[in-house]
Amino acid sequence: MPTNEELNAELAAKEAEIKAMGGPEQVKKQHELNKLTVRERIDLLIDPDTFTETGMHVKHHCHHFGLDKVDIPADGVVTGFGKINGRTVCCYGEDFTSRGGSLGEMHAWKIARTMDLAAKMRVPVVGMLDTGGARIQEGINALDGYGQIFHRNTIYSGIVPQITLSLGPCAGGAVYSPALTDWILMVKGSSYLYVTGPDVVKAVMSEEVTHEELGGAMVHNAKSGVAHFAYNSDADCIAGCKELLSYLPQSVYDAPAASHQPPDDSPDRTCPELNAIIPENPRQVYDMKQVIKAIVDDGKILEPHQHYARNMVVCFARMDGYVIGIIANQPSFMAGVLDINASDKAARFVRFCDAFNIPLLTLIDVPGYMPGTHQEFGGVIRHGAKLLSAYSEATVPKISICTQKAYGGAQISMCSKSIGADLYMAWPTAQLAVMGAEGAAAIIFRREIAKASDQQAKLQEMTELYRNTFNNPYVAAAGGFVDKVIKPADSRREIITALEALRHKQEARPWKKHGNIPL
Ligand code: HXC
Repeated sequence: MPTNEELNAELAAKEAEIKAMGGPEQVKKQHELNKLTVRERIDLLIDPDTFTETGMHVKHHCHHFGLDKVDIPADGVVTGFGKINGRTVCCYGEDFTSRGGSLGEMHAWKIARTMDLAAKMRVPVVGMLDTGGARIQEGINALDGYGQIFHRNTIYSGIVPQITLSLGPCAGGAVYSPALTDWILMVKGSSYLYVTGPDVVKAVMSEEVTHEELGGAMVHNAKSGVAHFAYNSDADCIAGCKELLSYLPQSVYDAPAASHQPPDDSPDRTCPELNAIIPENPRQVYDMKQVIKAIVDDGKILEPHQHYARNMVVCFARMDGYVIGIIANQPSFMAGVLDINASDKAARFVRFCDAFNIPLLTLIDVPGYMPGTHQEFGGVIRHGAKLLSAYSEATVPKISICTQKAYGGAQISMCSKSIGADLYMAWPTAQLAVMGAEGAAAIIFRREIAKASDQQAKLQEMTELYRNTFNNPYVAAAGGFVDKVIKPADSRREIITALEALRHKQEARPWKKHGNIPL
């Protein structure tokens, strides 16, 4: 019969063995790849002395291909819960040093249990992925494991925030759990996501392509739009995750004010610099991020997707200490036109904010939907409709400000009153119209212009006529489509007043199972 002391020593020895992960050689290799080990990552992510590890002693059940003779510490994944800046989260991290962090039946079971726990605790779940994908020796059991995770990603979507940190390879099945989560954070140079690896692409397409070129951080942040943030190191990525969480509620059940932080910035502050930000020459552009930074608390924003569809800006910020989600056209990139990617980017952001009770501020300066066969064949109708659907469906407070152009269908899509803005304001420079004055004049005064001796002069005259008639905020305000014309300098004050008034907004929708957003 072992003594208590011996039993305690046995526990300590087991824990030490498991915490050694894949052994010193593998740990060294991990560090040489500029990657931290899973346990170092958890130490950075979770507040000191708050981590409870679950399932440390779990073992795999596989008897094939010699795996029965191999112990995989913690089955290649560390799971548990702890605190981040004082707020509880559930988390898991794959251990690449142990069989490449490959996902077998029990590895998946541990992740699934962690997700179940997060949903029951009503706290976010953070996954740190670093894996060769399905553990090949476990065959269908590994595939089922992925299915169990995908199922939970979907079921818990909109219940608790789900964040993926891609911190190494995420190959094969390992890409679809991230894709089903709310946010994907990647590290330049060491993380990559792809369904089939470079060797397969090379064999099929005869293309030379590296891991990085196929699915690296900048590919997914700038080209595919799969990922939302890119960092230079594991440590930066983990810090980025903590910053992101600071803007989010713990779950859908949290009060909207849960992530309020006492502000340093005065709610009454005016922004005089905005009075002159719209260039008087219509051919000049301005940077919408300057507008955003002038308006929000301390000029501070957190911008997902900053390298993707840059004609649209989405970001989190605080106003009077309360978190808001901002969606804004960016006139300084592709004139802020709405296209397929911008619509997808904005629609998903709107849906995330709505799901987690984050009010929406929309800043509008949009010349319309992007014309051309490339967009039409790519399905701009379907993708553009997502934005209409997302805004129409959203029941959080929705405040809109039109700074300059709001033309055509894009005027409707960018949170117009028609699709549910609670308060639509306009600067004196705003023009809510079917199209730009020159284009409109060229069409409706076609005959007069054709007959004129100086056609250019006639076009200009008619353009002025159209501009004076329609391209100002007062026609829209007269029709009730604009609630208030405001001085740009007063924007911050006006938004904060409206947000406060709308804080307890309730908006019912008819019962249904779920809508059918045009995916
Ligand atoms: C079992 C794996 C593994 C896997 C890696 N390992 N991936 N073991 N199943 N999927 C093991 C390796 O055998 C090796 O074990 C150790 O992990 C480290 O791997 P290395 O290859 O030495 O590392 P590296 O050179 O850094 O290359 C990383 C890698 C490569 C690019 C990820 O390991 C790789 O290509 N793995 C296979 C990727 C893949 O095809 N996955 C898809 C699985 S099918 P030792 O003992 O030598 O240290 C799938 C389908 C699911 O996921 C679909 C669901 C929708």
